Amino acid sequence: MKNILVTGGAGFIGSNFINYILDKRDDYNIVNLDKLTYAGNLENLIPSQKKQNYHFVKGDIVNSEFVDLIFRKYDIKYVINFAAESHVDRSILGSEVFFRTNVIGTNVLLEAARRYEVEKFLQVSTDEVYGSLGENGLFTEDTPLHPNSPYSASKASADLVALAFHHTYDVPVVITRCSNNYGQYQFPEKLIPLMIINSLNEKKLPVYGDGMNVRDWIYVLDHNKAIEIVFEKGRISEVYNVGASNEIPNIEIVKLILKHLGKSEELIEYVKDRLGHDRRYAINSSKIKKELGWSPCYKFEEAIIQTIDWYKKNKNWWESIISGKYQDYYKTQYGTK
Ligand code: NAD
Ligand code: TYD
Repeated sequence: MKNILVTGGAGFIGSNFINYILDKRDDYNIVNLDKLTYAGNLENLIPSQKKQNYHFVKGDIVNSEFVDLIFRKYDIKYVINFAAESHVDRSILGSEVFFRTNVIGTNVLLEAARRYEVEKFLQVSTDEVYGSLGENGLFTEDTPLHPNSPYSASKASADLVALAFHHTYDVPVVITRCSNNYGQYQFPEKLIPLMIINSLNEKKLPVYGDGMNVRDWIYVLDHNKAIEIVFEKGRISEVYNVGASNEIPNIEIVKLILKHLGKSEELIEYVKDRLGHDRRYAINSSKIKKELGWSPCYKFEEAIIQTIDWYKKNKNWWESIISGKYQDYYKTQYGTK
């Protein structure tokens, strides 16, 4: 049995990871440590909740005494750190909590990992640490770090702390840097679920700038399979980029959503651009493919339709979210409810 601390497991990617991995592995004992911020939702974990090898603990990764207790109580030997403040726009509205959770929190976990001599520490990072690309080129693992938003600066800092803990104390760290994810359980502040839900509600779809910023989209389960393989086979101290070679300008995604839902393009509203908006992300994943044999399985054309249909069928999941505090965020960010 592997005792694995999964942090942030009530969020979008972490909950999909736990549900996926517990469905196929009896030899993983998962302890999910999550603070249940606005982005954490235990409903995402209904498929895992009754399993004997799943345990939920509500807590903050910044709280070192509490983290220590969890390592001791569950005899933690492995860590997969998903926990983070994850939304760029929120980091522009207020950055402090991003550095608190993403940097200090990662440092607290690494300190515990050192004390308890864990066998692997997987830091879940993002391609946004590399900054923005022009029209050509792809991020490789050797691209210099050039984060542009408070969010990406906090994630790049966490990566550097993790690598320093390997260099200094031999903590067995490995890092994944994935591109933009989409799929079920993604919080509706992010582009794809926000546009789906606004379309369903016949609300305006706020497109930043000229809508031609490009993101490289990957289905969440392909990301999670990459995490699984890096966790099992990734070499210590290495970084692995993860992406599905699927670059799309934002406006095309928005139009695709409207088309699938049978809604008018008149709902599109071009709004003020995001401050410091990165123009293009695109990732080269040849290292993880060649070295670890990972490759993406899901076709964008199919998985995006499945995702849109999931939000259509699961109104209960998002209606409770958007009726609460989320309305205050929406008003601050978009100037309208
Ligand atoms: P999310 O915002 O949906 O979930 C984050 C989770 O972390 C939530 O459950 C929240 O309650 C928890 N959390 C926040 N602060 C915490 C704290 N101090 N202590 C304990 N738990 C805390 O995020 P996500 O989209 O699932 O992203 C997960 C990870 O993947 C993040 O590290 C993010 O940087 C990275 N990532 C995300 C994407 C993407 O497209 N969403 C792409 C690449 C990498
Ligand atoms: P987002 O989902 O926030 O991911 P990230 O900024 O981490 O890449 O945004 C994806 C793209 O969509 C990004 O270029 C910003 C744009 N966007 C909009 O145009 N309107 C919106 O309301 C949001 C949330 C994002």
